[in-house]
Amino acid sequence: MGASGDLAKKKIYPTLWTIFRDDLIPRKTVFVGYARSALSVADLFAGITPYIRLDSEDERQLFEDFQRQNVYVQGSYDQAADFARLAATVADLEGGSGSGSGGEGRANRLFYLALPPTVFAPVTKLIKEQVMTDRGWNRVIIEKPFGRDAASSAALSAHLSGLFREEEMYRIDHYLGKEMVQNLMILRFGNRIFGPIWNRENVACVQVTFKEPFGTQGRGGYFDTFGIIRDVMQNHLLQILSLVAMEKPVTPNAEDIRDEKVKVLKCMKELKLEDVVLGQYIGNPKGKTEDSQLGYTDDPTVPAGSVTPTFALAKCSISNERWDGVPFFLRCGKALNERKAEIRIQFRDVAGDIFAGQCQRNELVIRVQPGEAVYVKFMTKEPGMTFRLEETELDLTYTNRYKEAILPDAYERLIMDVFSGSQMHFVRTDELREAWRVFTPLLHEIEEKKVVPLPYYYGSRGPRQADDFCVANGYKFTGTYQWKKPTTAAGAGGNS
Ligand code: NDP
Ligand code: BG6
Repeated sequence: MGASGDLAKKKIYPTLWTIFRDDLIPRKTVFVGYARSALSVADLFAGITPYIRLDSEDERQLFEDFQRQNVYVQGSYDQAADFARLAATVADLEGGSGSGSGGEGRANRLFYLALPPTVFAPVTKLIKEQVMTDRGWNRVIIEKPFGRDAASSAALSAHLSGLFREEEMYRIDHYLGKEMVQNLMILRFGNRIFGPIWNRENVACVQVTFKEPFGTQGRGGYFDTFGIIRDVMQNHLLQILSLVAMEKPVTPNAEDIRDEKVKVLKCMKELKLEDVVLGQYIGNPKGKTEDSQLGYTDDPTVPAGSVTPTFALAKCSISNERWDGVPFFLRCGKALNERKAEIRIQFRDVAGDIFAGQCQRNELVIRVQPGEAVYVKFMTKEPGMTFRLEETELDLTYTNRYKEAILPDAYERLIMDVFSGSQMHFVRTDELREAWRVFTPLLHEIEEKKVVPLPYYYGSRGPRQADDFCVANGYKFTGTYQWKKPTTAAGAGGNS
């Protein structure tokens, strides 16, 4: 649904192609695109192919096979007759599948809703009434936004729950498909060393950061009605927070994990205006690109005088025995100095210091992107004839340690999860409700008071007040740590 749209073109079709290419789904799977535009499959693919890389003649051949597995149906999003026509097309396509190896008469249907939220309701209703199968499973993938506050999200959830069972619904948060986000479970619960220090006695603060080096780039229309808190913080960053902070699940199964995530969210206080720093980028006169010289409100798709934040820092509090008093800083912004998503766990100072204040705080950093890595910043003796201290790191950099590994794209993993019926990395209804409970009062307050965000230059680290706020709330930054990029293995040991 929404086959002609941007998300479908740039993400979903390329992902479907990848999983088809890699033989991860049955070759007889048929992909039925549905949208309002009058398109042929060839037209549809003319839009998709620029986002697809074909590396060999074999791949080009296979891509043609993939195209042949595609069908396009044009129709409205609110007319039962159009959905009946879609259902008839799908039933026709399934005609041959009953006698195959897939089992007598069995045919599963996976619906992907890559649609604007305005048509979620009628489309899901018509899918339920006209297109669901009783010859196999039905699964529905839903893309954000899942509402814009607690009330609208609850209304959407009530609507969906009236149509589908929880196990049929897959709410996508693509950050849950990222390698290092998935790795959190193993790092935390598969190692003895982290468990005993993962608490308020040892952790000073936690920072979850998302930075992008570009602005809204013509997407200002959508962005302006949501803002960075709804776009990134309330979903991607909060999902990461809950995986970092939750208790150990009883099993690594979807329901047990999601139970723990909900529990920790329930311990979170609702955010208030004094817990946040908001920013909006302005043009940087020294910017090297034309884009960077323009501010958010210079984007013609953004309403003049908009006070929508493009940067936000929030201090979240978790009132439970493990985390009471430990600030969890969620930071996100557009048009910043770099692309980066990371989790930084900063430990408390060493008690009873005997090194005249030379020890810097230990940090465990889990870099989600770019360049997956886990590193622990810690103190060591400066090598040689000295007894000075030095900051160094234990470093697991994926490109060094896992040279051959191919890390699939988040969408690829998540869509495969849906095919195989695993809901571990999808957002459950009660989880979403809790996420909105934490953010709704703040969002309403920002909007009612028309809070003016702090300006920051395109390409900077965001408003200086955000750093000051972290420091005032317990984060320490010394700027003394220097990372020396490792050379090759031979180079590292070659100083005889
Ligand atoms: P730093 O101590 O240098 O930085 C810590 C944090 O402080 C960062 O999150 C940084 O980024 C933020 N910061 C920067 N300036 C200020 C400031 N003036 N006030 C407050 N905060 C500030 O350590 P890092 O862990 O960031 O490491 C430094 C570099 O080394 C990074 O580029 C890192 O990727 C690299 N490194 C790479 C490794 C690997 O690839 N395996 C291993 C270890 C290090 P922000 O702008 O987000 O706030
Ligand atoms: C999306 C946001 O959910 O995530 C975008 O709507 C953002 O604004 C994107 O750019 C970032 O995703 P990634 O995977 O590129 O970090």
